[in-house]
Amino acid sequence: MENTIQLMQNHSSVRSFKNEALPTEVKNQLLIAALAGSSSHFIQATSIIEVTDKKIKDELAELSNSASYIKTTGACFVFVADLYRETQILTANNQSLASVENMEALISGIVDTTIAGENMAVAAESLELGICFIGGIRNDLRRVSELLNLPKFTVPVFGMTVGIPTQHNGVKPRLPKANTVFQNQYNPSTATNLQNYNEVTANYYAKRNTNQQDTNWTQKMQDFFAEPRRQDVADFVRQQGFRP
Ligand SMILES: Cc1cc2nc3c(=O)[nH]c(=O)nc-3n(C[C@H](O)[C@H](O)[C@H](O)COP(=O)(O)O)c2cc1C
Repeated sequence: MENTIQLMQNHSSVRSFKNEALPTEVKNQLLIAALAGSSSHFIQATSIIEVTDKKIKDELAELSNSASYIKTTGACFVFVADLYRETQILTANNQSLASVENMEALISGIVDTTIAGENMAVAAESLELGICFIGGIRNDLRRVSELLNLPKFTVPVFGMTVGIPTQHNGVKPRLPKANTVFQNQYNPSTATNLQNYNEVTANYYAKRNTNQQDTNWTQKMQDFFAEPRRQDVADFVRQQGFRP
């Protein structure tokens, strides 16, 4: 078995799985690992919803544009930033909700939830399973919250599909430390000196096994950020009770 650091450095998202449900014991292990992560002030502001109902799963698959690898997989989870429990405690004790409504609480919930997601990802990969985060569920947050019966003070952050891979992608070259790691102070010019990385990524996109493209990382970012996306997210978060 690979050691943990090699495992993490070899990560790549999987988008093609066997149509074979994960055993309950495996799912339990993944869930316990997910929820064992650090938590800001131990608020544990995360819930995880396993989606097994075919109708719900099919709708999540379509709205997230990830149909094949949500429908054909071992298990599908939605990770929810969840401060609903805290609001119930505060309300029962006649306390104000102001400290749960604010941006800091929302960020804490999203951070806790993201830690849980990555914990599950690493746990799954340690069992030679593949994973893909599904941020596509935020394409329609209102519908997702209806489908999952989410109360106020919850925000679905991402889904995760986990299963036995039928195809592995190569490891995508990350931004080098020269661009992303600093001593003592941030350095704007080394952060943005992307010539080397653009050469590395141009080579990667031209030569990878599937979906080869004539592009590089800078071009990808220009394309991705050409238009604002998911502009209803802020309204949804307000609808859920937060006041960011
Ligand atoms: C929060 C989050 C949301 C993501 N959402 C999607 C998604 O909706 N569909 C998808 O195919 N991949 C999704 N991904 C996977 C990324 O595209 C992938 O991690 C990135 O391209 C790097 O590739 P790698 O994971 O293979 O190294 C998501 C990743 C993260 C962290």
